[in-house]
Amino acid sequence: MTTTDPPLLVCDSVAKSFGSLTAVRQLSFTAGRGEILGVGGPNGAGKTTLFEVMSGLNPATSGRVLLEGRDITHASPEAICHAGIARTFQLNACFDSLTVRENVEVGAIFGRSGRMLPNLRPSPEMQQATDDALDLVGLSARQGLVAGSLPVLDRKLLMVAGAMATRPKLLLMDEPVGGLTHAETDLMMATVRRIAATGVTIILIEHVMRFLVALSDRVMILHHGERIYEGSAAGLVQDRRVIDVYLGEGASARLAALLREGRHEPA
Ligand SMILES: Nc1ncnc2c1ncn2[C@@H]1O[C@H](COP(=O)(O)OP(=O)(O)OP(=O)(O)O)[C@@H](O)[C@H]1O
Ligand SMILES: [Mg+2]
Repeated sequence: MTTTDPPLLVCDSVAKSFGSLTAVRQLSFTAGRGEILGVGGPNGAGKTTLFEVMSGLNPATSGRVLLEGRDITHASPEAICHAGIARTFQLNACFDSLTVRENVEVGAIFGRSGRMLPNLRPSPEMQQATDDALDLVGLSARQGLVAGSLPVLDRKLLMVAGAMATRPKLLLMDEPVGGLTHAETDLMMATVRRIAATGVTIILIEHVMRFLVALSDRVMILHHGERIYEGSAAGLVQDRRVIDVYLGEGASARLAALLREGRHEPA
């Protein structure tokens, strides 16, 4: 990489409307290689919509999305996956009747194959991607279990493994710890750090602020589809607008204390 390389991801004046409702407004930001960018904001702020735009499921109404300088704004989800973006979903999305391994193989095949169907037999390279992804999230020993039988944490980890099996450059994670206990959240935190250590850039949406501030190199807060804050976690808890529209006085004071005392990290 040279200093003239573009950031891994550039969103340039991205907007997304659903009829008269504008979910994302003229949003511009970048994500650098190896960075963890945290995205927060109230319900309905447009966070998931931003992921829909970046992953091609619901393309932007205007503006541009560039990956490694290449315009992917109107590329198909499959082409965007092959270009290097993978995502997980806010609600658990697994194939319940398939095994853990088969679920991850679907990701490995989707990430590599020129065709989505019908060749669902993984090549040795796809088998390797599946092994690596299962290992990364700690599900190797349970790969023969039926996915529908898994508890919620393991289902979330399985979704992460499926995304990682596509060998992404950029992983988009939509509320990976929603509904998890404190201890389970810590485990997901360790998993995200392992993924980041492989060099993958991560954009993370999360309402659990302890998780978001512990992991993020930079935080962006959205409100009504617009950025109201971008900067450090420490600055976040002092930002008047963020406190007023999102965190509230109590939560921001508690978060500030966690940060001050280092208690946002696992014990
Ligand atoms: N497919 C769609 N059709 C119409 N409106 C939509 C669609 N998807 C999202 N919206 C609307 O866009 C706005 C932003 O929704 P979005 O799901 O992006 O919010 P969010 O920030 O992810 O919220 P949450 O924290 O609750 O997940 C909301 O008003 C939502 O109702
Ligand atoms: Mg959402």
